Amino acid sequence: MTIKIFIFDAYGTLFDVAGAARLAAAVPGGQALAEIWHNLAENWRRKQLEYSWIRALTHQHADFARVTEDSLDWALCAAGLKDADLRRRLLALYDQLPPYPEVAKVLSELKAQGHRLAILSNGTPEMLQKACDAAQITAQFDALLSIEEAGIYKPDPRVYDLVEQYFAIPRHEVMFVSSNGWDISGASVYGFQSFWVDRLSAPIDRLAYGGGALGPDHIASDLSALLSLIPSIATQK
Ligand code: LAC
Repeated sequence: MTIKIFIFDAYGTLFDVAGAARLAAAVPGGQALAEIWHNLAENWRRKQLEYSWIRALTHQHADFARVTEDSLDWALCAAGLKDADLRRRLLALYDQLPPYPEVAKVLSELKAQGHRLAILSNGTPEMLQKACDAAQITAQFDALLSIEEAGIYKPDPRVYDLVEQYFAIPRHEVMFVSSNGWDISGASVYGFQSFWVDRLSAPIDRLAYGGGALGPDHIASDLSALLSLIPSIATQK
């Protein structure tokens, strides 16, 4: 198997989606979140993904900035919080989510080895640019691909098509890296090689995978394992 490009999911894979609520809880004005930031972050993320899937299924597309606001509003309401300043702070923090600790090092090592890297994310082009700039990882990528080009959310195959369209690389030469099990399933069924970052030690999602496999091609607890995998997948630059 020859891999010609590494494609990364963004939220949850490169950027810590719980970071906004955690950081907001830690600064003055964030006291209301001290006990509940974890729960708020979970509800926010869960609703954000549900809304993306439901909007895709019902053909009611709205971009990920809007979906992220709507899901935050649900989560704040569920927590009994009505605080416009807090809402504004959380959304501003979402634009500069902290990357996971190993991200910068792994990306720069892959880049230094000459590999091509790109993001394929639900995020809008603006959201992705801001998050990558804040994390100082923009220069590592050949492209920040947004589902906005396809006008529908993952795991619709038209989203994964964006990689072939942009890079003119056959799908079996793409290594797709995501912490989202459902995204890994979608990409694997589509025909990408799959690398699941199981950051939470979760069970494998009981979904379809490419070639009738029972799970992702590769599983690791963080991105560092990509570096040790490279010799065995005979990556071409
Ligand atoms: C993304 C979501 C799925 O970045 O996390 O596409």
